[in-house]
Amino acid sequence: MPASIGLRTFEVAPSTTGEELRSGQGEPRRTLLQLTDPHLFAKADGQLLGVTTRRSFEAVLEHACTHSPHADTLVLTGDLVHDESREGYRSLRRLLDRTGLPYYCIPGNHDSRPLMEDLLGPAALGPVAVHRLGNWNLVFLDSTEPGQDGGRIGGARLAALREALAASPSPAVIFLHQHPIPVQSDWMDRLSVADGDELIALCNRSPRVKALVCGHIHQEFEQRIDGYSVLGTPSTCVQFAPRRSEFAIDTRAPGYRELTLHQNGALETHVVRLDGYPERALRTARGY
Ligand SMILES: [Fe+2]
Repeated sequence: MPASIGLRTFEVAPSTTGEELRSGQGEPRRTLLQLTDPHLFAKADGQLLGVTTRRSFEAVLEHACTHSPHADTLVLTGDLVHDESREGYRSLRRLLDRTGLPYYCIPGNHDSRPLMEDLLGPAALGPVAVHRLGNWNLVFLDSTEPGQDGGRIGGARLAALREALAASPSPAVIFLHQHPIPVQSDWMDRLSVADGDELIALCNRSPRVKALVCGHIHQEFEQRIDGYSVLGTPSTCVQFAPRRSEFAIDTRAPGYRELTLHQNGALETHVVRLDGYPERALRTARGY
């Protein structure tokens, strides 16, 4: 549990460039922290199903930066601001800026893309964007469809993704909001990427892809497909119970995912939860 959940400037190692050696293992590697579905509000005390989302986000962000002092980059995979308020995005930017780390954001179904672009500037990415991290490609894919909670990539974005993957022989991680394969929760799987099969087919044909990393499902998930993994990550606020036919709250702690990208194309990852964090979603909630 973090010693404090108050606002403060995080002390983190500056982002590195070049081929710095890490941890004495003799091989350059990069560390990336994925935080997802913070569902912030304009008001600092705004709550989602009983969780004060800004407070839990601050706690997760502080924990992540403290426990991964060599992190290179933060990635936020959507549902950034629940009430689509300008102040919500301003708060997010303030908190992320304080880490001193570069950060990248893609939208979720609860986001306003125009507000993201206006208030997060170049950190708001999509519909298909690629950034280098060491010898890896980080691919940011907007999977949202306006007015819909479920996602859809669509022909144009799939074509752009195919082109981006073909343009470089480097290993790649693709980030998107909605899950592209079923996670065995009927209610949630109705809100997946509608054309996820086409995305998976494209990844199956590209040995460069090492992982598809999503938000949206508010739970840890991992499924191996050929040479890559589909990964889901706990929200920084409310958790959904896995493998349920209908909406159900999980009282597990908020968390985040750390990904380590090795120069040889290997990827290591694990989820970290703030088990001592005191606030939990209302177990009686029937939806959100
Ligand atoms: Fe969400």
